[in-house]
Amino acid sequence: MFRACFFLVLIASAGAAEISFSRQVAPLLIDQCVECHRADKAKGGYRLDTVERMLKAGDSEAAPVKAGKPEESELYRLIATHDEDDRMPKKADALPEKEVKLIRDWIASGAKVDVADVKAALRSVVPEQQAKTPEKYPQPLPVTALALNPAGDELGTSGYHEVLVWEAGTGKLKARLGGMPERVLALAWPAVGQMAVAGGVPGRSGEVWLVNPAQPKERKRLVSARDCVLAMVASPDGKLLACGGADNQVRCFELPSGKLKWQIEPHADWIMGMAFSADGKHIATASRDRTAKRIDAGSGQIEATYTGHESAVLSVVFSADSQDTLSGDVQGEIRRWDGNGDLKKDGTLRPGGRNEVLAMGFAEGDNLVTAAGDGAILSVDVKARKVKGKVSRHEDRVNVLLVRRAEKGVRIISGCHDGRVRINEMEKAEPVLQFVASPGW
Ligand code: HEC
Repeated sequence: MFRACFFLVLIASAGAAEISFSRQVAPLLIDQCVECHRADKAKGGYRLDTVERMLKAGDSEAAPVKAGKPEESELYRLIATHDEDDRMPKKADALPEKEVKLIRDWIASGAKVDVADVKAALRSVVPEQQAKTPEKYPQPLPVTALALNPAGDELGTSGYHEVLVWEAGTGKLKARLGGMPERVLALAWPAVGQMAVAGGVPGRSGEVWLVNPAQPKERKRLVSARDCVLAMVASPDGKLLACGGADNQVRCFELPSGKLKWQIEPHADWIMGMAFSADGKHIATASRDRTAKRIDAGSGQIEATYTGHESAVLSVVFSADSQDTLSGDVQGEIRRWDGNGDLKKDGTLRPGGRNEVLAMGFAEGDNLVTAAGDGAILSVDVKARKVKGKVSRHEDRVNVLLVRRAEKGVRIISGCHDGRVRINEMEKAEPVLQFVASPGW
């Protein structure tokens, strides 16, 4: 699915050496622990906001870090325990195995602290992010995620360990939000000061962050999963955020707090695509297990399972009246379902031949827009089951599609595997704007 070589070149310099507290352990503690263990909120009488405090026991009086002895270190014991009531971080997913192992190895190898001032705030001992994100990209990076701000004048796109923010009118780069997942695979921008960023590293980690684009240091990690988060949607009113991915889980959060509302495992394989209904009541999921589902957004109850696709389902969308769900698969078939989970009469269509349906959106009424593996973006009349026209034609697969109804008509924003972003208007053959969404290109 991804062009791995580009990423490998960039990672090659990382190397495996002695564990660095300041570079590897401290950032993890800051993301996952300091929120509840600091001056104004010392849960369990324990603080983790300076090295000195980290080493001092809390209410339990058990040593948090005993050099060379992870099993006797309360800090390690509590992140590694299988007892969910005791486990840290409290009320959240367990840390990914890789991170638990990192802390174990750090303590086992002597818990060395490469910090000059042990009284300094933990945040200040973390060196500035190593230059993971190149100033200019060696080659265009595939566009795997897009989000428009609520006003519609700024566009966020996926970068390497960063989110890039562009002026939607001109394609001018406005900001780079660093410190993000290596691969950014889904974006949502439900409110002015709130962007959600999802992604990870395949087979290793999945992350979702809430970040204020104007103040990128204000960020909160909502998810640490075992594998990539592949899809994410915000409700139309911006109050809920749902995500799903390669751990087959769907998680739903309240916004702006980021509090977990529910979490379920609706599918037997990866969740590839998600949609929110216009009325905000339902979430649809597309999965590699060849089904799509409709879930009650408030409770996390599964309302309907759509079975019948013969290949992995990649994309889903709701009809404008929130009644029907459409799902698109690897072999180019789109199926239209009613709320009970039944296929509608004349409910299958194949507008783009055998090309995988990677993304869909509704322009108006029965006018569906589809994006496919061959680069075609089509406008399809769902009721009449026929292609009305070609919106655009990219040179490579179209990974993401945003359909935005604005005063001046419908805008279709697409992100291509070759790194290009295009903004089209429904009735115009030429794009309103096209640019390569990689700095330096
Ligand atoms: C959401 C809040 C929250 C987060 C996040 C959190 N903790 Fe805790 N922590 C608590 C609470 C509450 C206690 C008190 C014991 C209990 O209720 O289980 C505690 C207790 C502890 C203790 C025992 C202190 C003592 O001596 O009694 C340690 C050690 C600890 N946490 C480490 C961590 C680490 C390491 C992380 C990050 C991986 C973390 N905590 C994240 C809430 C949190």
